[in-house]
Amino acid sequence: MLFSYHNPTRILFGKGQIAALADLVDPGARVLLLYGGGSIRRNGVYDQVVRALGDRVRKEFSGVEPNPHKETLDKAAALVREHGLDLILAVGGGSVIDGAKYVAAAARYDGDGWDIPTRKHTVREAVALGAVLTLPATGSESNAGAVITRAATGEKLPFHSPAVQPLFAVLDPDTMKTLPERQLVNGIVDSFVHVCEQYLTRPTGALVQDGYSEALLRALAALAGDFAGRDDDLWRANLMWAANQGLNGLVGAGVPQDWATHMIGHEITARYGLDHAVTLALVQPWLLRARMQAKGAKLEQMGRAVFGLEPGPELAERTVQAIEALYRSLGIPAGLRAAGVEEADAPDRLAEALRRHGMTALGEDGGVTPEVARAILTRAL
Ligand code: NZQ
Ligand code: ZN
Repeated sequence: MLFSYHNPTRILFGKGQIAALADLVDPGARVLLLYGGGSIRRNGVYDQVVRALGDRVRKEFSGVEPNPHKETLDKAAALVREHGLDLILAVGGGSVIDGAKYVAAAARYDGDGWDIPTRKHTVREAVALGAVLTLPATGSESNAGAVITRAATGEKLPFHSPAVQPLFAVLDPDTMKTLPERQLVNGIVDSFVHVCEQYLTRPTGALVQDGYSEALLRALAALAGDFAGRDDDLWRANLMWAANQGLNGLVGAGVPQDWATHMIGHEITARYGLDHAVTLALVQPWLLRARMQAKGAKLEQMGRAVFGLEPGPELAERTVQAIEALYRSLGIPAGLRAAGVEEADAPDRLAEALRRHGMTALGEDGGVTPEVARAILTRAL
């Protein structure tokens, strides 16, 4: 086991914590308030944020779309430069927070911001940023990653840099009260798959990472099982914390990681517009089956520790079925076609896009080639 672990994001968790921005944000800060399509205007979060910021210098940029577009975010970066803003406050879900990370980096870079996800530019410098989370799913509020879409070419690519890790994140579960059911499902599924990407690889004997992963997976499965009880403070708090912990670097420290489901999923969203979490739920079971040989031991461990399955024949396959049943119980469609992918040659096109983006050896051991991905997608149709 070999790792360096540093998570510098201060988390303020619980009811009423948005007001704490008044003390948290430097009185002299020049703030860009960045948000999405207006949900925060309708549910009172915007008012709470503005009240807490008081008379600090503040510019606003709204309209960051789900799967945020580089084209939109470039305008926000120009605003940051024009007004010399020094703190970006992202108020929203993963898309707004990811968008803020891109803006923070692009505002300090003279070239085309698309150089950031394509790795022509390595981000070493960025404007400071903080987050007020309104949709628990991605963990973006306390990690260093972001996923950006270029609408012009229909590409969706990730980037990582410690320079864009939020300084602070406010997690008030009350902000979730206006989330549509679909986004709560997305939150459970995305978080569940994040933990799987870091846990369902090969046995390593990492007792802490395995044990905590299993605790998070059990918590998420319990929240899915109690989906009818979702209009409850503790349910919301549990989802918000589980989603955060699932992708803050902790359970993945020093262990092999997969992320093939995510990279395939990003291509599906880029081409067909499906919600991120839906792509994961449709790809992951078939990816696990395709990789049964490599992942069998960990799947068996998960079956026992997370789903309480009896040891015995086909335990790994029974675990995949339990995962699938969990997604189905949340109303995830039965396949890509049912989810709206109409092109008959979708698996070929998606495999080709992976190849174009250099994603030719995905997974913890590089075993997911575009050809393997094509086979997985064919099953997932
Ligand atoms: O734009 P607004 O009006 O705010 O509406 C949003 C949006 O339409 C709405 N919403 C958010 N909070 C709400 C609310 N509606 C009512 N009440 C609230 N409290 O929800 C819709 C979806 O929001 P979005 O931010 O797109 O969802 P999510 O948080 O699932 O983020 C998805 C994005 O994150 C990326 C995904 O690829 C996708 O682009 N990811 C980022 C990761 C990271 N940075 O570490 C990892 C993930 O694996 C993921 O890839
Ligand atoms: Zn995800």
